[in-house]
Amino acid sequence: MSDGLENVVAAHTVLSDVDGAAGRLVIRGHSLDELAGHTSFEQMVSLMLDGFVPGLPAAKDIPAALGAARRELFETVVAKAALPAELGPVELVRAMTALIPDGEDAGTALRLLAAPAVFTPAALRIRQGLAPIAPDPALSQAADTLRMLTGTAPTQQQAAALDTYLVTVADHGLNASTFAARVVASTRAGLVSAVLAGISALKGPLHGGAPGPVIEMLDAIGEPANARAQLEAALDRGDRLMGFGHRVYRVRDPRADALKGAIRRLGADSGRLALAEAVEQAALAILRERKPNRTLETNVEFYTALLLEALEFTPDSFTCVFALGRTVGWIAHAHEQIAGGKLIRPQSVYVGPQPRQAA
Ligand code: ACO
Repeated sequence: MSDGLENVVAAHTVLSDVDGAAGRLVIRGHSLDELAGHTSFEQMVSLMLDGFVPGLPAAKDIPAALGAARRELFETVVAKAALPAELGPVELVRAMTALIPDGEDAGTALRLLAAPAVFTPAALRIRQGLAPIAPDPALSQAADTLRMLTGTAPTQQQAAALDTYLVTVADHGLNASTFAARVVASTRAGLVSAVLAGISALKGPLHGGAPGPVIEMLDAIGEPANARAQLEAALDRGDRLMGFGHRVYRVRDPRADALKGAIRRLGADSGRLALAEAVEQAALAILRERKPNRTLETNVEFYTALLLEALEFTPDSFTCVFALGRTVGWIAHAHEQIAGGKLIRPQSVYVGPQPRQAA
């Protein structure tokens, strides 16, 4: 038995390979360096789902198909659903996603791929008491998401930065949310159910819920000079430093540098980046001192926080943007699991009391 299934192999996959010792991520035969910054969200959809989703449009038709799906979701879900503004953005996106009819077909896959793009900006505006903005199907999914968020057309650099983020987080082996999605898909419950399982697993702070707290940590530190004392105090309280450590990587997460590059290209607030770099250096030094037997390095979530903040997403919505990127991975894994045809059903070892023997 292995706690947390650490080192347990639970699937063979052609989708992605996480080499934790070398700090290397391969997605469908391409290194992250080849993809991040050079590939659009739409191209990633074609790359990831190629051969997995019968009836999926050809690569050249994916942008229009996603645009049509965004418009359909806005008209059938956002404009009609009575949504409680007191729910957080992740709960709102999950609730709206649950209104999509379940299935394993290409239409369901396209709706799910478009869902966080439409539902995240809508959730944020509903919470502010503002009317959601309708999608523009002619735009790329990244550009349209930012337009629905802010109400103005993004710059080409902003849309490119969001594309880089979405591609960077598209797939990552059998992480907790992908495993959850595969378990549900293996029961043949449908892609909507699998994606809802993925969102639910993703939102936890030990997984995709980490970048919001990274912003809280940076705000609390405020100045590079305060970093060491504040981080020491957090560890003394028993807190974990958000954005550091990983189950698989024993070196720096390669996605951290892909995102740092995107932040630089965006020309975002250089003071904020300098603060983040100072906090990162202090955190790594302290973690080395306190956990000399455990290699704890920067993970993807640290620079995710900075990039999504620069793109004007609120920290409580960062997980929704992660879901926007990761949904393609969940759908690809769900279909890979379905194609394998085997229900996921491990064993447990009973360690509780036995019933009394009858006298
Ligand atoms: N801060 C302080 N201590 C840490 C951290 C951290 N960020 N990460 C791990 N540790 C310590 C643990 O306390 C533990 O110490 P111990 O052996 O003395 O008890 C040891 O390192 C091993 O930790 P585990 O939780 O057993 O390692 P695991 O591989 O299960 O955890 C995880 C990985 C959950 C990501 C962990 O590193 C963590 O909690 N990080 C902070 C949250 C975070 O950044 N999450 C995003 C991960 S990336 C992603 O999911 C997309």
